[in-house]
Amino acid sequence: MGESTLQDKVIMMTGAGRGLGRAMALALAREGAKLSLIDIDGEELQAVAGEVQKIGGADTVIPLGADVCDPESSATAVHYTVKNFGRLDVLFNNAALGPQAVAPNPYKNPPKFWELDPFTFIRMVNVNTAGPQLMAAAAVPHMIQNSWGRVINITTALDAMCVPGMGAYGPSKAALEAQTAIMARDLDGTGVTANVLIPGGPANTRMIPDATGIPRDALIQPEEMQAPAVWLASEASDNYSGKRFIAGYWHQGIEKASAPCAWPQLGKQAILPETIQR
Ligand SMILES: NC(=O)c1ccc[n+]([C@@H]2O[C@H](COP(=O)([O-])OP(=O)(O)OC[C@H]3O[C@@H](n4cnc5c(N)ncnc54)[C@H](O)[C@@H]3O)[C@@H](O)[C@H]2O)c1
Repeated sequence: MGESTLQDKVIMMTGAGRGLGRAMALALAREGAKLSLIDIDGEELQAVAGEVQKIGGADTVIPLGADVCDPESSATAVHYTVKNFGRLDVLFNNAALGPQAVAPNPYKNPPKFWELDPFTFIRMVNVNTAGPQLMAAAAVPHMIQNSWGRVINITTALDAMCVPGMGAYGPSKAALEAQTAIMARDLDGTGVTANVLIPGGPANTRMIPDATGIPRDALIQPEEMQAPAVWLASEASDNYSGKRFIAGYWHQGIEKASAPCAWPQLGKQAILPETIQR
């Protein structure tokens, strides 16, 4: 990638206050993007906004405290971003609640699905699935208007979606994966693309607690998300939509790091009347 690949781009990053969101935001800032950073945790968000300011200057970042799954605050965040920067080009749906929201150590002591607190389950689906949908629905019309844009949804490894202990988290991410495939098809021909980006395994963020026993340096480091995030936000990825990209394989090339998102090969199993076109 050349210098300042994202010079004219306005990019929203949800869950930007720490972890993968912070790492991606800093890389996007280094490529010249203007950033609208969203998080429910205002204190951490301000700290990351300060780091971005040091990279790009005071007028290159707005931190917006918002809950992505609140219809009003997600729409207001998009509105305020467009009002402030005059446009919106890229949305990273990165904010999420992790598996430990359902139990203290779901990796070593996985709760059974019937033990899950019903309100926690619903909150997880709201944040992890409804949040990205609300953000994208508010953001995409501004992109279609410019005949260019990106929706990048952070899901998780396909096998992590159906492992015991991932009750709530797994289904919430599987739903977002399926929604990304629908987004890509709905956006076909608009100049806006929708893709999935994942680390590819457990990553070194607060989402993976020390209690898992995995040494921190054996985890995927947040910085590994940076190169694919910059590429996905740039014009270099124009011809890619409906794909999933694995950051941990990025250094092995796009062919190795990408696959169709969701499960298109399994979708062919439905028995449909001849009158219905896929
Ligand atoms: N860490 C991993 O091993 C891993 C693996 C696969 C996928 N992911 C995905 O990567 C993304 C980033 O996760 P992370 O590891 O950096 O986790 P993290 O917990 O460090 O960061 C998540 C961020 O989202 C914010 N957030 C949570 N709920 C929110 C809401 N309702 N509205 C706005 N912001 C909210 C949090 O405050 C936090 O800053 C998530 O989508 C996660 O599911 C992580």
